[in-house]
Amino acid sequence: MSSKARTHLREWQAVAVQAPIWQQRHLRDVWGAPSDVSASGTDGAQRASTRTAELTRTHDGLLFDFSKQRLDAAVLNDLLALAEACELPRAIERLLSGARVNQSEDRAALHTALRLPVTSQLVVDGDDVVPAVHASLARMSDIVSRIHAQQWRGVTGEAISDVVSIGVGGSDLGPYLATQALAEFAPPEARGLSVHFVSSIDGTQLADLLDHLRPETTLFVVASKSFSTIDTLSNAETAIAWMRSRIADRARILRHHFIGVSAKPEKMTAYGIPEANQIRFWDWVGGRFSLWSGIGLPIALKLGMAGFKQLLAGAHALDTHFAQAPLAHNLPVLMGLLQVWNSTFLGINGQAILPYDARLKLFPSYLTQLEMESNGKSVDRLGTPIDYATCPILWGEVGSNAQHAFYQLLHQGTQPVACDFIAPIRRYSRDDDAGSSLQHQQQLALANCLAQSRVLMLGDDTRQGHHYYRGNQPSSTLLFDALTPYRLGQLIALYEHKVYVASVLWNINPFDQWGVELGKQIASATHTVMVGRAQADDYDGSTQQLLRVIAEGRVG
Ligand code: F6P
Repeated sequence: MSSKARTHLREWQAVAVQAPIWQQRHLRDVWGAPSDVSASGTDGAQRASTRTAELTRTHDGLLFDFSKQRLDAAVLNDLLALAEACELPRAIERLLSGARVNQSEDRAALHTALRLPVTSQLVVDGDDVVPAVHASLARMSDIVSRIHAQQWRGVTGEAISDVVSIGVGGSDLGPYLATQALAEFAPPEARGLSVHFVSSIDGTQLADLLDHLRPETTLFVVASKSFSTIDTLSNAETAIAWMRSRIADRARILRHHFIGVSAKPEKMTAYGIPEANQIRFWDWVGGRFSLWSGIGLPIALKLGMAGFKQLLAGAHALDTHFAQAPLAHNLPVLMGLLQVWNSTFLGINGQAILPYDARLKLFPSYLTQLEMESNGKSVDRLGTPIDYATCPILWGEVGSNAQHAFYQLLHQGTQPVACDFIAPIRRYSRDDDAGSSLQHQQQLALANCLAQSRVLMLGDDTRQGHHYYRGNQPSSTLLFDALTPYRLGQLIALYEHKVYVASVLWNINPFDQWGVELGKQIASATHTVMVGRAQADDYDGSTQQLLRVIAEGRVG
């Protein structure tokens, strides 16, 4: 079905007619006055409890409360009907069974296969992919245990003390997020090992690290699905050059100090990474969905293989929920529908991700790639332009820090923004003096989380001028008991599937990213100009001027 035909669907129209009502309606009026919400036995309290019952769902330790969104049960029912009309159940089935849902690249998007238990089976193009997935996990496991047991030795025979993961985008953000968020789950054998992340093409992160590391005890993991990303390969070249200051032989460096992770084994081999140091994955794993594959090696090095498998188990549990739960109780389905409602129908094009737990500091960055690279599209699956808004602009930060930074705009700016508040309800288990103080801090964080979503929803129209709060900023709150590898796996898979659900309603392909290609080509051509191998005569005047300044080597 074309996207034009989609907007003509009776179900699309049924949702659309309600949008103007909810663009006008204030959440304050939906909930009653703030005092009504807390009163008992009043109409307000009754309305509140009906609303929370209708707009809250739980699943396996996750609570998703969307009662502060700008809709009611009637709109939700119409969105669910629209999802049926867009054949969402069939689309979910196609995704999980390995159909070629990535049409523009003619392949499956099978990140869910990476977390299937060894006893399952998934036949794609005549082959069961599960044995290959578990063979790759076994190779990871072998590498991890050799490094932890200090059997993996550098050229001089010393054990490895530092691992530097070199990757970018999907080959960096997932492992970076998980190792940061779950550091406290490192098993004893991993505690002596430091894991670092390097991604930026300018070399800053690498240069800073090299001042503190020793070549003899450093192992680099070069992670790149394509093994052709200039950002990653230029960092790898600098790393090799640094090693060569101590160890002359490139082949020995690559044998003892480099592991490659890629879907292109032939390119790793051509680069000089020996087969035994290669972890392979498959074209049917999208880069931003790849942390579950060998790309997750840094996670396994930090958490141990058991911790990594817990992450996979959490994601798999969410996959099962996605596959089986009825749409109205399916968490990723609800989240995807809400995003479509906010962005496409209400015109809310900002989405803030606000974890009230500093361990999840990188979660917003991770989601900016997952959501915006997937659904930042303006053509449908057939390449035809679409005329409705798709993915909103996402950003975020640890919520309590963001309160002292950009919440001003959320409270009093001119833009409507939808917010996701995310928090564990339990945090510290220390029983010393610092422990009770930390528990108090955790309570403060939760109090701030609830206070902010409440103020953003209700605003305060009793104040005027600089003190006026418009309110009516919709939000969802995701609570879970405690952050664990399993829980983080669930959480990431939840957003992965949310992205897919929204893409199905928008009729776009979330698994390609053609929009980033042109910039790469032009950057390469621009570099040719900068090193004097081509002229910039046909460049625009603006860029020519900047090139001149750089060539002169001084500003002003
Ligand atoms: O440029 C975008 C992108 O292709 C992302 O989709 C990907 O995650 C990242 O670059 C890194 O790609 P690779 O893993 O192939 O180095």
